Amino acid sequence: MTTRVIAVGGADAAAARLAACLGGTVCPLAQRRFPDGEHYLRVLGAVEGADVVLVAHLHPVDPLLVDIVFLADALRELGARQVGLVVPYLAYMRQDRRFQPGEAVTSVSFARLLSRSVDWLATVDPHLHRHAALSAIYSVPALAVPSAPAIARWIRAEVPDAVVVGPDEESGQWVDEVARLAGCPGITGRKLRHGDRSVEIAWPALQPWRGRPAVLVDDIVSSGQTLVTALQGLGAQGLQAAACVVVHGLFAHDAAQRLQAAGASRLVVCNTLPQAGLPLIDVLGDLAEAAARLIAPRQG
Ligand code: R5P
Repeated sequence: MTTRVIAVGGADAAAARLAACLGGTVCPLAQRRFPDGEHYLRVLGAVEGADVVLVAHLHPVDPLLVDIVFLADALRELGARQVGLVVPYLAYMRQDRRFQPGEAVTSVSFARLLSRSVDWLATVDPHLHRHAALSAIYSVPALAVPSAPAIARWIRAEVPDAVVVGPDEESGQWVDEVARLAGCPGITGRKLRHGDRSVEIAWPALQPWRGRPAVLVDDIVSSGQTLVTALQGLGAQGLQAAACVVVHGLFAHDAAQRLQAAGASRLVVCNTLPQAGLPLIDVLGDLAEAAARLIAPRQG
């Protein structure tokens, strides 16, 4: 049984790690754009009869979707036994309903597109809020690896007396689990989003936690506005934020700088996306174990 791991769109480090964990090898890929912008892809290794795992950091996502669809097709034509997809960050999960009339529910459409192309999918903590599980929208087997154990280990080691704080109800699922595993109290605010960069957060009474270092935990930082507003709210109630821990650091535009200016002295991210210069919490080992579980049933 041969496992070949292909890095799509430059996910080379993650692909090498996955290949090592899965006892497979990296299969090189030639990727470029034609002068008109169309995608050129060429699989440079043998994949006939192999279990192939595509690895991609889905940010920015749209060009990678095209590559994944084309590659999955090509790999089947080249005789791959299965084509799985490991995406440490699963994009398009936040548009999980039609908030305004006429909007595209992109989480569902994206899931349909990927489910038509690959045999299975593994990811880390997708933004499941109004969709109860990946199986609600993905028709292929899809595993969501929790980051809470790794984040809780980090908190126990670095800020053992923390109070774990989530900025909104959506983060409650991560905050509760991280707090339980770290043996710390956990609290969440209630967020009202008025626009991409305009949010309000209402907090429960925080006086009981004054004097304890707060660790803000959220699944995604994009514009950074949620965490900036949370830091301001905590500060106003006399709580000191010791760290912000984020599963998927998208950091649109100047988000990292805005967070630092708002008092996020310690910004830590899980290694689901390539990050320069930030401390990382490792979740790729757990992701490789999930991939191994998904590969096995198709090996016969
Ligand atoms: C949504 O509620 C997520 O859990 C995050 O809180 C949100 O995506 C963060 O986005 P931003 O950094 O743009 O406020």
